[in-house]
Amino acid sequence: MLTGSDFPERVETPRLAVRRFVDADAPRVLSILSRLDVIRWLDNPPFVPMADLDAARAWVVRVNAREAEDPLQAWRALEVRETGVMAGTVLVSRMERIDGGFVGEYELGWHLHPDSAGHGYATEGAAAHARSAFAAGHASLVIGMYPDNAPSAAVARRLGAEDLGEVPDDPWYGGVSRHFTLRPEHLDATEVRE
Ligand SMILES: CC(C)(COP(=O)(O)OP(=O)(O)OC[C@H]1O[C@@H](n2cnc3c(N)ncnc32)[C@H](O)[C@@H]1OP(=O)(O)O)[C@@H](O)C(=O)NCCC(=O)NCCS
Repeated sequence: MLTGSDFPERVETPRLAVRRFVDADAPRVLSILSRLDVIRWLDNPPFVPMADLDAARAWVVRVNAREAEDPLQAWRALEVRETGVMAGTVLVSRMERIDGGFVGEYELGWHLHPDSAGHGYATEGAAAHARSAFAAGHASLVIGMYPDNAPSAAVARRLGAEDLGEVPDDPWYGGVSRHFTLRPEHLDATEVRE
């Protein structure tokens, strides 16, 4: 299927398939994005849990459509190959500046269902997705998070990303954030298995 994307539809790592979302993922998407303990880390408040299966189906359609709008962004499901369980999401997404619009910046992000945390899936999937992003032409990716999001900072560190520390005025989300930047040479210098 043609997606108009610069990202591959599917990449396999030793344990994961990093693949496009499909309609059948909707129940699991709902199970992940209806949880406050996940969504409270993903954006600014108010944190609104996903309401129902229709909203999850619409989310799948929406994230897949974003690649057609801009082929340098892509959302991918992390599927555990051995079990078929969809563990979570990795994404490369356009970032709009609060006061400057879009100036060519993209973020790398991730979230897991809590039942799939603690296995290294976020790091393994994000490394593969970042490699796809660099192959598609990205020179660097921004990784941003709430300053107290220790599990997310640990993922960034495991990828070898450069820690830029706390930023008082996040230009994309506002407020205080912790930023990392990831470039191809960082991944080359890490021992993340893919
Ligand atoms: C951020 C988030 C994805 C991190 O999840 P995570 O499971 O800690 O990260 P990974 O999948 O890379 O797993 C790493 C953990 O698995 C462990 N692990 C176990 N088996 C492993 C294996 N075979 N290979 C690698 N790591 C393994 C690691 O030791 C590590 O645990 P530790 O932190 O206790 O040392 C998760 O906490 C989450 O989804 N949070 C909510 C959403 C969120 O905050 N998203 C980011 C917004 S900026």
